[in-house]
Amino acid sequence: MSEINIGLGNHDDKTRLEAKSNYVHFWEKQAKNLFWFSPWTNPLDWNPPFAKWFVGGTINASYNTLDIHQKNKSDKPAIFWEGENGESRILTYHDMWIQVQKFANVLKSLGVKKGDRVTIYLPMIPELPISMLACARIGAIHTVIFSGFSASSIKDRITDSKSKIVITADGGYRRGNIIYLKQVIDEAIVKLDFVQNVIVIERIKNKIKLSSKDLMWNDLMNNISNVCVAEKLDSSHPLYILYTSGTTGKPKGVLHGTGGYLTHLYSTFKWVFDIKDSDIFFCTADIGWVTGHSYIVYGPLLHGATQVMYEGSPDFPDISRIWNIIQKYKITLFYTTPTALRMFMKFGEKIPNSFDLSTLRLLGSVGEPINPEVWKWYFKTIGKEKCPIVDTWWQTETGGIMISALPGLETIPLKPGSGTLPIPGLDISVIDEYGKDVLPNTKGYLVIKNPWPGMLLTLWKDDEKYYEAYWSKYKNCYYAGDYALQDTDGYFWLLGRADDVLKVSGHRIGTAELESCLVSHTDVSESAVCGIPDEIKGEAIIAFVVLKQNVQKNNMTLQNELLLKIRNDIGAIATPAQIYFVSVLPKTRSGKIMRRLLKAIANKEIIGDTSTLENVDSISEIQSIFEQLQESIQKKSE
Ligand code: WTA
Repeated sequence: MSEINIGLGNHDDKTRLEAKSNYVHFWEKQAKNLFWFSPWTNPLDWNPPFAKWFVGGTINASYNTLDIHQKNKSDKPAIFWEGENGESRILTYHDMWIQVQKFANVLKSLGVKKGDRVTIYLPMIPELPISMLACARIGAIHTVIFSGFSASSIKDRITDSKSKIVITADGGYRRGNIIYLKQVIDEAIVKLDFVQNVIVIERIKNKIKLSSKDLMWNDLMNNISNVCVAEKLDSSHPLYILYTSGTTGKPKGVLHGTGGYLTHLYSTFKWVFDIKDSDIFFCTADIGWVTGHSYIVYGPLLHGATQVMYEGSPDFPDISRIWNIIQKYKITLFYTTPTALRMFMKFGEKIPNSFDLSTLRLLGSVGEPINPEVWKWYFKTIGKEKCPIVDTWWQTETGGIMISALPGLETIPLKPGSGTLPIPGLDISVIDEYGKDVLPNTKGYLVIKNPWPGMLLTLWKDDEKYYEAYWSKYKNCYYAGDYALQDTDGYFWLLGRADDVLKVSGHRIGTAELESCLVSHTDVSESAVCGIPDEIKGEAIIAFVVLKQNVQKNNMTLQNELLLKIRNDIGAIATPAQIYFVSVLPKTRSGKIMRRLLKAIANKEIIGDTSTLENVDSISEIQSIFEQLQESIQKKSE
């Protein structure tokens, strides 16, 4: 495991020791960087598995991201917005403040109250963070849905959160195509009587059908007061619900609070990205995912940072788009995903080399393990061997970054492919099946042993599932669902998911969600889904399907029907690379599909114990499919 030295190699022992000796006191100290209307009386109420941070304190996320900057930074750009079609907009901290207050008043005028839920289904336009912050200002809970999800997925999420307001746009651009968001919402809310209004932003200015529930953003924003006093909210007041995939057929509504979450983001944005007033930050994530919530909306704005928000896909109109943006806006801090980097790398270094990337001083990666060769390419070709790389491990549930190098705090040798060390104030370990710490260089389960400020409050309206999913495997210890190892220097190496969750292009997709979608097709009796390694996306989805008897359709027709069904029920991001029709699936005698076997075969691992298997023949059928698959992958790469 080779090391790359950037800087002197100094741990900040003082901070790390202080954090270790009393993590609650340490986080209290960090929380004082924020503006509190009233101080807390108890820094942590830990009633496992429920943590309440800074109890008794009152705070507001919109106040901390906007009002506090009005004195010194009101003219500073908060967002340089770059449209996919080449349009651009600049919004200063003052502009954002005014827009947020106006929209907060709009929400109030529609009867939105503290604790109400508001669903946001928008493209990457400034009205998206404005809507989120307006909710935060009045204590409404925002729930943003990635604009690639289908009507049926949205319906499930709106129903679960019982949102009375939905905010959308007439459309959006994706790779030059128009996506008709309003139509998707119209379909999603049929029969959802509790949805009182749909607010529509004009992005593409196409003709849309308006119903009695629909209100236009511009009409509402005209003639409304631009003063809205921020609500003083309890530190644990819910800020948002973000749905994410887990191991069950239904997405989980991860619920985040305010004071602890903001403390986590303030600290990590400073330590990980070493933010300075003069920096221009660029995170390529979509706000529909947690990275966008934490490191486009809340983290950068808490610091009064300037950032670029890009509407479109990284390869539109061509593969140079991101380098073009870095050159145009003189980006200093760049945060992206291994999937994007693998795609860029495939096109060689000539393209990035033809742009001026010399303003860059720090590079980040998030969402999936980064292969050492991609890490090195990033370091050399993009960072010109002068930018540290922060490989940040975290999850929707953790709220903020948990493992990363911290150039804003200390300089330590970097190792390509390792996230390095946990953030100070966190107790992260790798343990075995029985809960014992494993030896160095031994693969085990990643767990978090103490509560941390950014941790989820619970799952929306489902405390039991919250306990079951994260706290039931080990007592009073958070189970992350990832494999990891620690090397002899204590560095963490993340080794992928230990559960039935896939990471496709960095997006979380639950195999159970896909399987329940496939079996709801009239011709399908059973299905099993697993991931296989993919050169660009990290993982690709493979589905095995057993048909009901006497199905007359040919496989091609069925495959198309199933692909369409997945697109309609979940969304295009969940589209399998391949669907295979098999006669039987490997199952235990009690009838459970043995996914472990599929995963092992797919990854060419030793199959292990098959004594509980009901139908040994099923393995050879699936094994031969994977062999053919490997051959065709090999042929393609030759
Ligand atoms: C994976 C994304 C390796 C991991 C912020 C985790 C990573 C899941 C890394 C959470 C990384 C995220 N190295 N794996 N740097 N970052 N992961 O909720 O499997 O979309 O559990 O949050 O992504 O995905 P989520």
